[in-house]
Amino acid sequence: MKVVNNITELFGNTPLVKLSALTKDIKASVYAKMESMNPGASVKDRIGLKMILEAEKSGELNPGGTIIEATSGNTGIGLAIVAAVRGYKSIFVMTEKVSVEKRRYLQAYGADVVICPMTAVHDTPEHYVSVAKRIAAETPNSLFMYQYNNPSNPEAHYLTTGPELWEQTGGKITHFVGSLGTGGTVSGTGRFLKEKNPNIKIIAADPYGSIFKTYKDSGVMTEGTPYLVEGIGQDMLPENVHFKYIDEIINVTDKDSFHMSRRLTREEGIFCGGSTGTNLVAALKVAKDLDKDGIVVFIVCDTGERYLSKHHSDEWMREKRLLEKDKTTIGVVFQTKLSGGVPNLVSAFPDELIGEALNRLEQYNISQMPVIEDNKSVGSISEAEIMSKIIDNPQIIEKPVKDIMDKAYPVIDESEDIRHGIQQLKKSPALIVSQYGRIIGILTRIDVLDFV
Ligand SMILES: Cc1ncc(COP(=O)(O)O)c(C=O)c1O
Repeated sequence: MKVVNNITELFGNTPLVKLSALTKDIKASVYAKMESMNPGASVKDRIGLKMILEAEKSGELNPGGTIIEATSGNTGIGLAIVAAVRGYKSIFVMTEKVSVEKRRYLQAYGADVVICPMTAVHDTPEHYVSVAKRIAAETPNSLFMYQYNNPSNPEAHYLTTGPELWEQTGGKITHFVGSLGTGGTVSGTGRFLKEKNPNIKIIAADPYGSIFKTYKDSGVMTEGTPYLVEGIGQDMLPENVHFKYIDEIINVTDKDSFHMSRRLTREEGIFCGGSTGTNLVAALKVAKDLDKDGIVVFIVCDTGERYLSKHHSDEWMREKRLLEKDKTTIGVVFQTKLSGGVPNLVSAFPDELIGEALNRLEQYNISQMPVIEDNKSVGSISEAEIMSKIIDNPQIIEKPVKDIMDKAYPVIDESEDIRHGIQQLKKSPALIVSQYGRIIGILTRIDVLDFV
């Protein structure tokens, strides 16, 4: 029987997974370092443990004390797990950019969460790091962990992540790719690997808008601009970014990061966050120029579950104008159509009276509807058609719909490209949307126009 004494003993020793679908045209091997398989589902568990153990050793953290940290969420989760096991209270300060999932996660561990404005500039009193420092100063028996300059952060990766990668690749790793938030992962892992073999290339992936790449390439400090990927990039230089171990920094857009994160999930089954997408874009860029001896390892920083309301949601991606146009499906347009209180499907039956159908058109203030029988689109009926008939023959409202119904609207599956739907909408005023062969609603020209 193999047991551990507490959950923190399961931190680290994460597996490597070889990519296949995403590397079809690449000769080198690309491996995912599955940090999402840590108990707190991120690369930050390792540093949570190390920072607390070192603070206990140095006497800075005492029994019953309070741990305080400025975090984009994952370090908070790592610390919260250790705090739960070792009996500390915790307070985490985050910006409003951080997903709701991460906030709730921390609260589930019993932590207090303080949210600061995303727009606050570094070193101003509203900035989340300044707020964390102030709370630490005001809270008795507390310790501000400050992952940005805490040496235990890179040290944790120097002592665990680096040696694991060396061992797992039999010393054959040629390129390591991670992203820079505090710098801990890349600085610690990079230092270990460089000491083993200085030829191993250490690559950092950085969002456009962050200052790291410009600083490394030109020594110039720029002002950061906003971007959407969480947990990485900065508008200041943390002490834990050790540029001497970094060979190259590659900039990646939000759009590329999020699409790559979604592709890693859909094509390799590895559910991950946005910064993992950033890393993978950089890893594939590097790997495509390597021969078959290239061994590239990139970090899977955390799980996609933390971003279900963010880049793993089509609605969110569309809201941020990040959905690729050629990937817009009928289903996406249908899901986002403005209902205005009208059910997804208002229809008539072939045998019901025209008068009843007319009442329904009036009730929902719509001008047309499909005629459906046994889940099949058999015809359509419109206000215009009824109007033209009723003037000559008012009795018509007593006749069945099937007597005057018009051509059925075409049925289109929700997975079809919207462009295909638009072609059909040139000939038909509306389309019937189906899902797995079942009719789920109607899409009109105005719905498509509203979407655009
Ligand atoms: C989601 C995510 N990815 C990557 C990182 C970067 O790791 P590091 O701080 O070690 O540079 C972080 C750091 O907070 C993170 O939260």
